[in-house]
Amino acid sequence: MRKASSIWVIVAVVLAAAMAWAQDEPKKEIKHVPIKQTSAASGEQMYKSYCAACHGTDGRGNGPAAEALKVPPTNLTKIAARNGGKYPSLRVSAIIRGEETLPAHGSKDMPIWGNLFWSMSGGHEAEVQQRVTNLNKYIESLQAN
Ligand code: HEC
Repeated sequence: MRKASSIWVIVAVVLAAAMAWAQDEPKKEIKHVPIKQTSAASGEQMYKSYCAACHGTDGRGNGPAAEALKVPPTNLTKIAARNGGKYPSLRVSAIIRGEETLPAHGSKDMPIWGNLFWSMSGGHEAEVQQRVTNLNKYIESLQAN
């Protein structure tokens, strides 16, 4: 059995919301919502549920929440290109888990997914590992040449 969903509310994911379409200047704000359960087997489903709000559905960093952030979300399709053409799988895993410090100093805009997945799984490391691996593979599949 999974733990009560109230836990997920505390460790909520950030998503874009509240766009005032009618105003002259559309206002965007970041809303914390309960984390949605997804299949650990689907990197794509997790990416769309947890990452696309900031990094964009196509991974280019243009998600709806992007402009409300102080540090722009990284273009995830260029990770390999920025690394001499080689996709740094271990580094990406460490970043997703929150074990790697990101270059933009003091950024708290990028959530610590390792902790969230840990809570979601009720502390099952194997499931956390599966989520991180499948997300990583999905991001690798987004790499543009
Ligand atoms: C609330 C917005 C937000 C969400 C949601 C988010 N990210 Fe990020 N992400 C960022 C920001 C901002 C940065 C840049 C941080 C910095 O440079 O300090 C970043 C950076 C990264 C990087 C580093 C890329 C590099 O090469 O430096 C990776 C990898 C990454 N995110 C993966 C993910 C994954 C996977 C998810 C979903 C599980 C996710 N992000 C969800 C905002 C977000």
